[in-house]
Amino acid sequence: MADLSHGVASVLSNLKNQDFLSSSDFSSRQTAALLELAHQLKKGQRRIDLGNRVLGLIFTKASTRTRVSFQVAMARLGGQTVDLNPQVTQLGRGEPLEDTARVLSRFCDVLAIRTFEQKELLAYAHWASIPVINALTDVEHPCQALADYLTLQEEFGDLKGLTLAYIGDGNNVANSLMICGALLGVNVRVCCPEKYLPVSNVLAKARGLALNGNTIELFNDPSEAVKGVNALYTDVWASMGQEEEQKYRQKVFKNFCLNETLLSKADPKAIVLHCLPAHRGEEITSELIECDASRIFDQAENRLHAQQALLAALLGGL
Ligand code: CP
Ligand code: NVA
Repeated sequence: MADLSHGVASVLSNLKNQDFLSSSDFSSRQTAALLELAHQLKKGQRRIDLGNRVLGLIFTKASTRTRVSFQVAMARLGGQTVDLNPQVTQLGRGEPLEDTARVLSRFCDVLAIRTFEQKELLAYAHWASIPVINALTDVEHPCQALADYLTLQEEFGDLKGLTLAYIGDGNNVANSLMICGALLGVNVRVCCPEKYLPVSNVLAKARGLALNGNTIELFNDPSEAVKGVNALYTDVWASMGQEEEQKYRQKVFKNFCLNETLLSKADPKAIVLHCLPAHRGEEITSELIECDASRIFDQAENRLHAQQALLAALLGGL
């Protein structure tokens, strides 16, 4: 773990009142400092009391980890959450986003939003006068990436020069892994069927941020992509909103299942990650989820610590 203890508060002070819409919103230094704060919070070396601040949760898709970890993170910071599920607010009856965002900014101190389109998230951020956090869109899942790299850092110490192979769909999770990995000096390999590679603008963004001599590479062959890597990562083949493509994708992705054979080609100390929820027997075998190299449940726990650090920084609680 890098010793950033003296610098963490000053590095993170610039994040006060900022949005977190993409992994690229924070610099390398800010991202590393957030991981250090998350580590300190997890180990009980830091306690932060935000003093009864309120996080509003607007989730138009299902969630277990993100929703609950935000709720618990706010409780541990001395604050509260309010559930602004569109089914129970006027949002579900068509109240305009620009009105909703401005009204909620008068009640809440920060919003975490899970929605289908990144552009809707950007619209919320435009109209809200409080920080807005991306809790997953079609394009990115930046809170997930913070927890993922925290898990890698706990395992290996220094992140610089490590290599992570993501096998599967070039989706929101893959995008944030590329961008956040680029910022942290991690080599990221993304291996997908040809038509499911990450979109070119996100790939270009990640490559433009990989300034520590690290690389962001694309692969089509899982056996090649996993050679000698420090971490194997996968996610579902059909994301929320793509359920009707599930059957078709099962065929296209059938050679992209993370299994013992792929693990045996990685570095002997490699770890296995999955953001969850998983479809056992599709993108990952049950054996791999349960194997000694799996850090999947530590990774899930780290959502809490990473988001606690994020909320503390955005709300100026350092
Ligand atoms: N990994 C993740 O975001 O899980 P949830 O969909 O349960 O929040
Ligand atoms: N790619 C998945 C991640 C779920 C946490 C989805 O968007 O459904």
